[in-house]
Amino acid sequence: MTVVEPRAMGTDLHRIEGPAKVTGTARYSYEQHTDAPLYLIGVPATIARGTVTDVDTVAAEAVPGVVGVLTADSAPRLADTSDPELAVLQSREIRYRGQYVAAVIAESQEAAREAADLVAVSYDEQPATTAFDERSPETYAPARVLFFPTDTVTGDPDAALAAADVSVRATYRTPAQHHNPMEPHATVACWAGDEVTVFESTQSVAASQEAIAGLFGLEPGAVAVLSPHVGGGFGSKGTRHPGAVLAVMAARTVPGRAVKLALSRREMFETTGYRPATVQHMALGASADGRIEALVHDAVEPTARTREFTEPAAVVSRHLYTAANRRTTHRLVPMDVSGPTFMRAPGEAPGSFAAECAMDELAVALGMDPIELRVRNEPETDPEHGLPFSSRNLVACLRRGAERFGWADRDPTPRARLVDGWWRGTGVAASFFPTFRMPGSTAVVRFRADGGRYEVLIGAADIGQGARTVLTQIAADALGVPASRVDVAIGDTALPHATIAGGSTGTSSWGTAVVDAAERFRDKYGEDPDDGDEADGMAPDNPWAAERAMGAYGAQFAEVAVHADTGEVRVPRMLGVFAAGRIINPQTARSQFLGGMVWGLSMALHEESVLDPRTGHWVNHDLAGYHVAVHADVGEMDAEWVDEDDPYVNPMGAKGIGEIGIVGAAAAIANAAHHATGVRVRSLPITLDAFL
Ligand code: MOS
Repeated sequence: MTVVEPRAMGTDLHRIEGPAKVTGTARYSYEQHTDAPLYLIGVPATIARGTVTDVDTVAAEAVPGVVGVLTADSAPRLADTSDPELAVLQSREIRYRGQYVAAVIAESQEAAREAADLVAVSYDEQPATTAFDERSPETYAPARVLFFPTDTVTGDPDAALAAADVSVRATYRTPAQHHNPMEPHATVACWAGDEVTVFESTQSVAASQEAIAGLFGLEPGAVAVLSPHVGGGFGSKGTRHPGAVLAVMAARTVPGRAVKLALSRREMFETTGYRPATVQHMALGASADGRIEALVHDAVEPTARTREFTEPAAVVSRHLYTAANRRTTHRLVPMDVSGPTFMRAPGEAPGSFAAECAMDELAVALGMDPIELRVRNEPETDPEHGLPFSSRNLVACLRRGAERFGWADRDPTPRARLVDGWWRGTGVAASFFPTFRMPGSTAVVRFRADGGRYEVLIGAADIGQGARTVLTQIAADALGVPASRVDVAIGDTALPHATIAGGSTGTSSWGTAVVDAAERFRDKYGEDPDDGDEADGMAPDNPWAAERAMGAYGAQFAEVAVHADTGEVRVPRMLGVFAAGRIINPQTARSQFLGGMVWGLSMALHEESVLDPRTGHWVNHDLAGYHVAVHADVGEMDAEWVDEDDPYVNPMGAKGIGEIGIVGAAAAIANAAHHATGVRVRSLPITLDAFL
C-alpha cells in the first residue's frame, strides 16, 4: 500500500449526515419505524448484594396493556452465562445495585412504566463492599491492564529518588465519572423464527452481533445489527450492557413483534459502565538542572467483582519523558458494583492529571519553566521499549502553543495577579495518546454506472466523530475521484465486517481497508469501470507495529481565574496544539479536539459520580446532579495542529484524534489554578472550597 496523494483529504468537507441530524430526519436506533412495537422497562435491584427471595408480579400484570413480566424464574435461558453482567435474569443472585431483577413488556411506554413500579421484589440482603478503600486488604495486581503490562520497572527508582537533587512526591485523586452521550443507550429487537434484527446504539455493529449471537446460542448470521446514527458513545457503547440483552430476550417472548428499550439516564449510571475513580501516587526526582532521574507512578483503583476492568492510568508515564529509573504500577480493589469500562482516553485522561500536575510541581521545585522542563526531558526513543518514534512532535506542540498563548511574558510567581477581584494564572500540560490500528476491517468498493458513482461499503460506526465524512474523503483520494462521487454505507452487519469506533482506531483501521479496496478496484478496472464492478479490501496488521513507537502528542494551555472572595473557578482561555499525523478533515478534526478539551474542562471542574458508600447507589444519576460543562462554562477555546508526515501508521498517515483532546486538559487547568492562587489542588473536580 502507498500513501495516497491527498485531494479530498485535508479539506473541510461538511459532515455528510449533518443536514439530516439538524433537521431531525436522521433516525437513531429507538426511532426506527416498526409496526405495532412493544415497550420494555426494566426493574432494578435496590440492594448491592444478596438474593431475590420473591418477585410479586400480580399487580403489574393487571395493568391494562401489559403483555408480560419477565423475572429470573420466567425469562428465557441464555446459552452463555459466563459474564455475570450480561447473564440478565438468569439467576436470583444480585451482584450490584441496579441489576435487573424483572422487566415489563407492554403496549405502551406508559403502561410498562406503571407496571414496572408495581413489581414488588423481596431480597435476602448480604453485606457488600460499596465504599472504595484504597488500603483494602483485598487489593490485588491484575494479570494485565487491558493490553498493557500491569507493572513496569526500569533501574532503581527508589534509590534514584533518594539521591536526586530535587524531588516531589504527591498523591492525586480522580473520581468516578460517567459517560453522558446525548443519545441514551437504546435497543429495538424483533425476532422472526430463530433470527433476530436489532437496532442498537453501538460503537460496533460487529461486536454487538457477536455478543448477541453468543448469548443466545445463534450463528452470527442469524443476528442482524443496524446502527445508522449514534448520538455519542465515548466508550460506553463500545462494550455490551444488560439493557441490550434484556431487549433481545424480551423480544424472544413475543415473536414477530418489535420490542423497544430506551434507557433512562438513571439506568445508564447503573448499567452502562463508567470511568473508575483513581488514587495515583507520583514521585519525580531530578538533577538540579532538571533532568529527570526517577519517575514513579503507582495507581490504585476500584473495580467490580463481576467484571474486572483496569483504568490504565500509569501508562501515560511510560511514554512521555526520559528517566533512567522508572516504575509504573496498577492495583485494584474489588467491589460489589457494576463494572467500570472504557471512557474517552481510558488511562490517559486521569493518568495525565497526576503525571502532568507532578511535572508542574517539579518545575516549581526546580524553579524552572514547565515547558523548558518538558523539553529538557524529551526522549530520543520511546522511554518504555526504546523503539524509534514513527513521528513525535511534542516539543513542536509546546513551542507553537507557547508562542500563540503568549507564554514568554509569563511571570512564574504564583498568586501574583489579582485582576478585578480574580486571581489569574496560566498552566500547561503535555498530552499523549497511543496510535493503534486494529486488524480485520474489510471494505467493498463498487461502481454504479447510473450517476457514475462509487459505493463504499464498510460496517463502521459514526458515533458523531465524522466517520462517514472522512471515509468518503479517504475513498475519494484512493479512487482518484471527487468526494461528491462517493457514497459510503456504514452501521450495518450486512456490510463488510469492521472493527470498533474506539481507542482512536476507527479512521486508521477502516481507512486502511477502504484504501486497500480502492487500490484493488483501480488495479482491476482502471479508471473506466462498468456497472457493478467491485473489489474488496482489508486492513492487515500494521507491519511497523513492532518496530516503531506510535502515538499522538499535544500541548494543552489554560488560563484560570479564581474569585478572591468566593473561590469560583473560571477558565477564560484554553488552547490545544496537537501532532496527530495527517488531519483528514480540519473541520471535523477541530470539533474532535475541542470536544475533548471541553470534556477535560468538565473533568477539571465539574464531573464526579457519587457512590453512596452505604448502598452502592450512584446518587447523582442524572444531568441535574452530575454536572457536565455547558456552553457558559467554556471561554475562548481553540485547537490547532502541527503537520506531520508519518508513513508508518497507515496509508493515510493519520493518527487517531478521538481521545487526545481530553488528555492533559485537566492538568493544564489545575496547574493554572496553582499559578493563579498558590493552592495546589490534587483532587478532581476542582471546586471553590479548595480556595477558601
Ligand atoms: Mo473509546 S473510550 O476508545 O470507546
